[in-house]
Amino acid sequence: MEIKNNNQHWNDYWSQGHKTSFGSAFTNCYEGVIKATWLQYFKTLKSNSKVLDLCTGNASLLRIAKECLNDEVKIDFTGVDYADIETADGFAQLNNIQLVFGVNIEQLPFEANSFDYVISNFGIEYSDLNKSLAEASRVLSIGGKLELVCHCYDSTIINSNANELAMLNLMLSEGNVLDNLKALIKALVIREKNKLQASASEQDSYQEACQLAENFRHKLNDNIAIIDNSFTKALHESEFLAFLKYLLSKQCQDKETTLRAFKNSMQAHNSRLSAMINAALSMNQLTSVSELLKENGLSLLNIKDVVNEDGKIACQISAKKHT
Ligand SMILES: C[S@@+](CC[C@H](N)C(=O)[O-])C[C@H]1O[C@@H](n2cnc3c(N)ncnc32)[C@H](O)[C@@H]1O
Repeated sequence: MEIKNNNQHWNDYWSQGHKTSFGSAFTNCYEGVIKATWLQYFKTLKSNSKVLDLCTGNASLLRIAKECLNDEVKIDFTGVDYADIETADGFAQLNNIQLVFGVNIEQLPFEANSFDYVISNFGIEYSDLNKSLAEASRVLSIGGKLELVCHCYDSTIINSNANELAMLNLMLSEGNVLDNLKALIKALVIREKNKLQASASEQDSYQEACQLAENFRHKLNDNIAIIDNSFTKALHESEFLAFLKYLLSKQCQDKETTLRAFKNSMQAHNSRLSAMINAALSMNQLTSVSELLKENGLSLLNIKDVVNEDGKIACQISAKKHT
């Protein structure tokens, strides 16, 4: 089954226990304007209906729904995602909640006309929209509603993440921060090994390692100064400077393993950021959203910006299956 992005990074990400796709930005579940947007929407759902959440992740959207709807409102929620996610807190066992993982939304395992509402929060845009919108439309009952909150090319989230991605790519590029840091750590490890040795040759190795370490320290400082100059905000908001301080401190015993683990997590973060930026709806897709929906049996009801104090953070699309 072909999907728009490689999803292994999502499996790894959700297995770390995150509730939303924004890492530590939200400690429990979504807050602020994203939560408010969905709370307002969930209040409009009819009782005795069936809701399908596409690309549910760790079911953050369904958690918001459950929080605002009292038990008298009988709604069945189903969440699907391509990733394989363990919802450790028992949410999946709640009444009226069904989570199905390993599902590609471009090929939904549900019968036609089986849901009254299809929803998605920062999810459907990761797929091939021609296929997933056709599937959303197929499983919606006649007159059923589609509600999407999507990343879009001109949001502050996409702009700042594109900037962070450019920074990470530079840091990870050949001969840059990560390479020089690796070389510095190697020289420091050799220096420590030879430090206490008495023989003349080992003393020479010690001096050599000191010199090497100094060279790589200078190169690293130059790299970081350039990064700081071009990506000041992204660098200072990232974990890199704190990590560097820890890595070079006496507290960090196994520097090589620690650096390897950090580089792996940086590369995984990099993959998630590029997936997000590739997924964001383009200007073309936004201007032709009505046609795109129509081709898939849906009529556009509304499209609007989701805005917080920083500006536009997403777009909200509401549609209805043709009657
Ligand atoms: C940005 S996360 C959003 C998760 C959740 N909706 C939220 O708001 O926290 C995107 C999710 O889409 C899923 N995904 C991407 N492409 C998919 C596809 N073709 N079919 C099913 N899930 C997909 C990923 O596994 C990931 O969990």
